[in-house]
Amino acid sequence: MIPIDFKNKVALVTGVGDNDSFAWYIAKALQAAGARLVFACHPRVVGIVESFLSRDADRESRELPYGGGELKPEKVFACDASYDTMDDVPPEVKSDRRYAKFADYSIQGTIDAVGKEFGGIDILIHSIAFSREITKSAKETSRKGYMEAIGISAYSLTSMLRAAEPYMTGREGGACAVGLTYLGGEKVVPYYGGGMSTAKAALQIDAQQLASNLGPKNIRVNLISAGPYLSRAMRSIKPGEGEKTVEYAKSRSPLPRAIEPEEVANATAFLCSPLASAITGHILYVDCGYNVMGV
Ligand SMILES: NC(=O)c1ccc[n+]([C@@H]2O[C@H](COP(=O)([O-])OP(=O)(O)OC[C@H]3O[C@@H](n4cnc5c(N)ncnc54)[C@H](O)[C@@H]3O)[C@@H](O)[C@H]2O)c1
Repeated sequence: MIPIDFKNKVALVTGVGDNDSFAWYIAKALQAAGARLVFACHPRVVGIVESFLSRDADRESRELPYGGGELKPEKVFACDASYDTMDDVPPEVKSDRRYAKFADYSIQGTIDAVGKEFGGIDILIHSIAFSREITKSAKETSRKGYMEAIGISAYSLTSMLRAAEPYMTGREGGACAVGLTYLGGEKVVPYYGGGMSTAKAALQIDAQQLASNLGPKNIRVNLISAGPYLSRAMRSIKPGEGEKTVEYAKSRSPLPRAIEPEEVANATAFLCSPLASAITGHILYVDCGYNVMGV
């Protein structure tokens, strides 16, 4: 039997917004393999995530695979991936009551807090994307919307890994980061506008640069390019567009079906495990093979 054992490994999972998020499934897989979980959620969704983690009505969605118990992060931090430090936060955000209850929700502040409180970070999951103008085509996207999408969806990986490097260095067996990307960063997906396609393209080369920068510290950096899946982010693109994309991918993929979020979670567990110890700077397609099709 080949085991995946994350006992005593600290996994910082970003991007849980609800119990449909890829990050929710990834967290369950990591905990099922024994990891200690810490969440860093957008300040505006911390309360929502906490209720998904505690409500009776959501108990079933918390069940871990392989009969491993129930999803339970040790702590939920607030982190807005727009800000590297609290100096970057504009006054109107600082005074917003949804933010004001948290002392430090910057990337640096969050990573420092996790690294110190948990004694290091073995696994970092980047599952964040945002575009205010996602419903606009590439041609119609404003400079402001474009830069914001890249900042939150791509640069945040660089910022997180810069902050996390000291806490991910010297971990037994090395440390690793896994981010989520989409085919829309490589090929034209017409509705994937608002700067998101550019953000994914940037994320993909950034992950490879970061793999090279951090390899000497035995920190691996990989991405999963997931097939279309009806999460909240996907549903926000355009009414009906997400469903159409899933149906289209289903009809065209070598495996003629939609992906399941558990499949993304399992592939993430593999990439974080010693089974993937020589894999870094890689983009692993978890898309039923859709990416290989020419027509
Ligand atoms: N759903 C798909 O079809 C699909 C396919 C391929 C890749 N992905 C990628 O998977 C990742 C997760 O998306 P998902 O589909 O699970 O949707 P989701 O909406 O559940 O997750 C997106 C997360 O990003 C977070 N976020 C947005 N702005 C943020 C900010 N400023 N700071 C901190 N967090 C912020 C949201 O709170 C949310 O939790 C994204 O990178 C997405 O692009 C999704």
